[in-house]
Amino acid sequence: MDSEYWKKRWRDGELSFHQTEFHPGLVTYFPIEPKAKVFVPFCGKSRDMLWLLAQGHRVVGAEISPIACEAFFRENQIPFTAISSGEFTHFKSEMADLWCGDFFRLPPRAVETCTAVYDRAALVALPPEMQKKYVTQLKNLGLVVPTLLVSFTYDQKRVDGPAFSVPFEVLQRLYGDLYDIRELSSRNDPPMSPKFKGIPIQERVYFLTPKI
Ligand SMILES: C[S@@+](CC[C@H](N)C(=O)[O-])C[C@H]1O[C@@H](n2cnc3c(N)ncnc32)[C@H](O)[C@@H]1O
Repeated sequence: MDSEYWKKRWRDGELSFHQTEFHPGLVTYFPIEPKAKVFVPFCGKSRDMLWLLAQGHRVVGAEISPIACEAFFRENQIPFTAISSGEFTHFKSEMADLWCGDFFRLPPRAVETCTAVYDRAALVALPPEMQKKYVTQLKNLGLVVPTLLVSFTYDQKRVDGPAFSVPFEVLQRLYGDLYDIRELSSRNDPPMSPKFKGIPIQERVYFLTPKI
């Protein structure tokens, strides 16, 4: 489940995680503030970014696949430029900046002044041993900011991730020293890839408030 795994999925068009509908948790619980600058880690070509832009927020994304970054702008008819910037390609439009490269190597300047994080299918895309590294990188990037996070729970013994099951106790262990974590909503059997067919899944939306 390294960068190559995800790049190959994009090349092969294996995009079962991609949703055409805006996430109901995002639509219900954002804005965190009226005009936010929202960091979207592992952004793919998520249409949720389109929703954020339509509300007048700025978006900064990080995504390993150039196919995904380019598709986001082209499929939504947003004019963009793509500029090479060190290890990254910076896809840029008036209100959106997608940094194409490895999130774990993203420089802090890319996310400067972001005021919120929206995590849908980012933390849960990572196997348990990578999740702490993910949260540490957010912290190193200076992104201890209000965060809307979507997570799943299911019987991990019955099927392997991604998406991985990340129950509240794990979130508490990962984020609890920095954030107060509040569950906002939950739903059963959200849209998932076919490998989860017949497996009961609960999706929960959390709001993480920085303690300091
Ligand atoms: C499960 S998908 C979720 C995409 C998006 N958040 C959505 O809701 O549709 C995970 C995404 O993370 C990207 N990704 C995986 N590892 C990454 C990394 N190290 N740095 C940046 N992006 C990564 C993948 O290419 C993929 O698009």
